[in-house]
Amino acid sequence: MSDDHAGEQHVKRSRIRRSRPSGKAIAAEPSANECPPEAAASEQFELHVRRIHRRDLNRVWNFLKLVFRDVNRETVEYQRPRTKQRFVDTYEEEGVSQLLFEIHRQGKRELVGYAEFAYEIVGSDNWMNHRYFVKRNMRPLFVEELAVHPDYHGIGIGSFIAEQIEHAARLRGCTHIVLEVAANNESALAFYRARNFQQIDAAIFLAKKVTVEEQLLPPRTIVSRQRT
Ligand SMILES: CC(C)(COP(=O)(O)OP(=O)(O)OC[C@H]1O[C@@H](n2cnc3c(N)ncnc32)[C@H](O)[C@@H]1OP(=O)(O)O)[C@@H](O)C(=O)NCCC(=O)NCCS
Repeated sequence: MSDDHAGEQHVKRSRIRRSRPSGKAIAAEPSANECPPEAAASEQFELHVRRIHRRDLNRVWNFLKLVFRDVNRETVEYQRPRTKQRFVDTYEEEGVSQLLFEIHRQGKRELVGYAEFAYEIVGSDNWMNHRYFVKRNMRPLFVEELAVHPDYHGIGIGSFIAEQIEHAARLRGCTHIVLEVAANNESALAFYRARNFQQIDAAIFLAKKVTVEEQLLPPRTIVSRQRT
């Protein structure tokens, strides 16, 4: 287990303002004397970051499944999160930082964000080419996961996570932050591009439609011989 897992020290905190409290998606038109969501009173809360603990594993696994449910439906590339076993193994892996971002409200903590990163390429099933970075004198920080609860998108939590990652990269003397994102994950791509991430590889999934022929021949009309 890495040092990162020891303790639950708060690394950083931030004040976030959201326009309305977390809620389920409801498809109802506001009545005439109800305020539309954007006019509702904004709520202020503190966003805290801490390192993961063993007792968080189930909760974070369920959180990641929820965050990536819609993203996975639209993507061909490997599905996130990968497997529960891999997630548990990651916790035991040396050198992987797993940070939880929580809102503290009325004495309760709510998990709203997660970041996972490492300074080396980890995992035997990782497709990254170490030499690509060595040849270019790059010392990358590799982001494995960056996730914000869907009810809390667009209020600055992802930005805070990105800042925390960049802070970690600077402290470690990294020259780049490297991550993989599906080309059709448009909101994530826009988020990264707005933060000066640029494409360094050209892997794109291509698909060509093949004309399908049935393996079995269609039915044929047979005329029986006339019996005399
Ligand atoms: C990508 C992601 C991490 C961004 O997190 P976030 O908390 O929404 O990010 P922020 O609120 O800090 O910024 C979102 C940007 O979209 C804008 N935005 C406005 N309303 C928004 C909304 N309803 N939803 C999302 N973004 C919105 C923000 O203004 C901001 O613009 P900027 O990039 O110019 O600053 C988050 O959408 C996410 O977890 N997506 C699902 C998981 C995923 O795809 N992760 C990346 C895998 S590589």
